Amino acid sequence: SLEIIEGPHVSGVQLVGDEPGAMAQAAAVVESLGYGYVDINMGCTVAEVTRTGAGVSLMRSPEKAVVIAGAVAGAVGIPVTCKMRLGTSSGTVNAIQLSRGLVEAGVSAITVHGRSGERKFGLPVDHEGIRAVVEAVDVPVVANGGVFTGKDALEMAQRTGAAAVMPGRGLIGNPWLVTEILSAFRGEPYSQPTLDERKKVCLEHLRHLCGYYGEREGAVAMRRVLHEYYHGCKRLTELKRDALTVTSFSHVEALLDRVYVDGQRLSYGEPR
Ligand SMILES: Cc1cc2nc3c(=O)[nH]c(=O)nc-3n(C[C@H](O)[C@H](O)[C@H](O)COP(=O)(O)O)c2cc1C
Repeated sequence: SLEIIEGPHVSGVQLVGDEPGAMAQAAAVVESLGYGYVDINMGCTVAEVTRTGAGVSLMRSPEKAVVIAGAVAGAVGIPVTCKMRLGTSSGTVNAIQLSRGLVEAGVSAITVHGRSGERKFGLPVDHEGIRAVVEAVDVPVVANGGVFTGKDALEMAQRTGAAAVMPGRGLIGNPWLVTEILSAFRGEPYSQPTLDERKKVCLEHLRHLCGYYGEREGAVAMRRVLHEYYHGCKRLTELKRDALTVTSFSHVEALLDRVYVDGQRLSYGEPR
């Protein structure tokens, strides 16, 4: 069930796979549903994905990756983009060569996660590696990896020369990061969301999960992410612990009601 959220933004769908014909067919479906672009995943390191030859495994078979990109680009009129890492490992960095091949095959933009694939997030982000791709191709490059604040995004843009910056984990529980980044780029002040805003968006997230999975499973899915909305909160460990017990919408709501403003910080527990 794919849904387009109305708004001034462009919506796209990312495809994961390693079979050119199937990927081309899937891309045509994406286009027919009204999406604005289709992205091909060449960076995922999750074993279920890589063992099928998809995700970052495509960086190990760059010829196949280029054939897939060509098949997808030939099947749709909307832009085709790719998201990759710097290479499958630090010893096999090939983002530059692969990017050139993909652009020749018809790819319109490339996102580079500035790490290689042997460790998911452990390695520092290599800004120079991303910059090398920016300089090697004449399509927009989006820089990704380690952006958690507006300042991180500005530094990423300056160090890489990329056309855009893509945050990843930083958005989990903090969708306001987008506003923070835009404020940083515009040189405008940014203030963190209030407690009420955090609660409102956290419950909206929960509502979507419950709508998709059903109430109990939705609440269970929320257990792992709920605390992310309260980054920096005092007694976060207790909040995380209690979140592991939630089984319903009202249960989560009751838990969030126990977060309160304590001076300059948020705190969890019983307000004194
Ligand atoms: C829970 C989770 C799910 C992700 N799913 C995808 C995905 O479906 N496709 C993708 O290209 N990258 C995916 N990523 C990787 C991120 O897009 C991003 O490349 C990576 O987290 C590095 O950026 P960061 O350091 O800002 O988190 C995922 C990351 C996380 C943590």
